[in-house]
Amino acid sequence: MSEPIALERRRLGNTDLLVTPLCVGGGPIGSMPANFGYDTPVERGVETALAALHGPLNFLDTSNSYSAGESERRIGLAIGRHGGLPDDFVLATKLDRDLGSGDFSAERMYRSARESQDRLDVESFSLLHLHDPEHVGFEAAMAPGGPVEALLALKERGVARHIGVAGGPVEMLRRFVETGVFDVVLTHNRWTLVDRSADQLIQEAVDAGVGVLNAAVFGGGVLARGLGSAAARYGYREAEPRVVSAIASVEELANSFGVPLAAAAIQFSTRDPRIGSTVLGISRPERIAAAVGLNAVPIPDEFWAQVHELAAPSDTWLS
Ligand SMILES: NC(=O)c1ccc[n+]([C@@H]2O[C@H](COP(=O)([O-])OP(=O)(O)OC[C@H]3O[C@@H](n4cnc5c(N)ncnc54)[C@H](OP(=O)(O)O)[C@@H]3O)[C@@H](O)[C@H]2O)c1
Repeated sequence: MSEPIALERRRLGNTDLLVTPLCVGGGPIGSMPANFGYDTPVERGVETALAALHGPLNFLDTSNSYSAGESERRIGLAIGRHGGLPDDFVLATKLDRDLGSGDFSAERMYRSARESQDRLDVESFSLLHLHDPEHVGFEAAMAPGGPVEALLALKERGVARHIGVAGGPVEMLRRFVETGVFDVVLTHNRWTLVDRSADQLIQEAVDAGVGVLNAAVFGGGVLARGLGSAAARYGYREAEPRVVSAIASVEELANSFGVPLAAAAIQFSTRDPRIGSTVLGISRPERIAAAVGLNAVPIPDEFWAQVHELAAPSDTWLS
């Protein structure tokens, strides 16, 4: 039987950030119906962010672009109600392209940081990521006048204490990690019960002293709620039949062990010592205590031995 996982703080890579193994993901807080299939009312979003600030988790992830800034605005309202950020709290946000024009220039990045500072009412960030650079590509992101130049300058000026890269395609993220300039990497939907694309990325990051954040371990929700009757989506898109079948098998295994699917989805990540923190998207205050509880549900080693074999075929992974 695995030991229940304690809510100890882990050092994130070589940074001085000490984070809880679970991090509140701010995507649903701002309301993203295209991703999650429902609206999050303003007050529920603010209450969720406020609950995050009350602990026991000390880590909250958002971005400039989530719901066109609404996630940051709601988190900013919560920070105001709380009377500021708790001392040991790690608030991460991300530099985003202009969603209208696609502008990913250094100048746009400075504006992105300023917008985030204003919405969140903070002068500096413990952790600031470059967000979804797949929209511009590695070369353009690294080029003079590009977004990485701006991110490095923001670190130099003290606007960001630590910098990260957060995005999708794992091969691209591996290239960013190889540059040696990032303190942290965030991968999503790619190190889960059914998709294992990010294994090598994670290992290379750890070997390089880069902190690893594993986000969207519910695949956007299906690995928390189960398949149900609605059309299955994984990673914010319709899931192909072999992925649906893998999810069904994992769900069946979890049921046979009496293990909540969401507990298995969370612990798949938190039991991996390479992961600095696991980022869970939530839009309800009560989800925080629920997540801490799910992370502590005892899960037999036999379950892990069997679930290991149940990933979807590798050619279905998001990669
Ligand atoms: N490129 C990037 O940087 C990137 C990409 C993806 C994700 N992320 C970060 O990682 C976070 C997590 O990813 P995600 O939010 O996209 O997806 P996710 O965490 O895989 O899934 C979020 C969904 O799971 C549901 N959920 C959570 N706990 C649950 C529970 N106990 N029971 C039933 N349902 C539950 C949430 O519902 P409720 O809304 O009802 O709570 C929400 O619909 C994001 O919010 C974001 O902070 C970053």
